Amino acid sequence: MAVCKGPDCRRGGSDAVFRALRSAVAERRLESRCELVRGGCYGLCHLGPNVVVREDTGRARDPFSPEDYQLMGWEGEVHYGHMTPERALRVLGEHVEGSVPVAELEASPRSGPDSAEESTVAGLTPPRRPR
Ligand code: FES
Repeated sequence: MAVCKGPDCRRGGSDAVFRALRSAVAERRLESRCELVRGGCYGLCHLGPNVVVREDTGRARDPFSPEDYQLMGWEGEVHYGHMTPERALRVLGEHVEGSVPVAELEASPRSGPDSAEESTVAGLTPPRRPR
């Protein structure tokens, strides 16, 4: 589970979202089930604070590779926008603990001025996961 630490998301409250999730993960003893990290700007600032939940497939991770902490558009990855601590805790409970994504809180990356379509123009479209 990655919480954006880009400047716009931080201005919007992503630090509080991260703190709430970190506390809840510890209180619920979810450390073995949920790794909580901070990701960089996803280019979807207008949807922030942004949170990404991605299923662990067992793929080896590189701490220096941004793809492990970014929104990549990979299968099984869910992007949640406009997160508050309360909404993020709901995602933790329903998606991470309950394995059911919270559809009503999912973000739509194709809306707004810095949408994925514009990111394509800027060459920032996330690559598809290699198979
Ligand atoms: S600052 Fe979070 S997506 Fe840009």
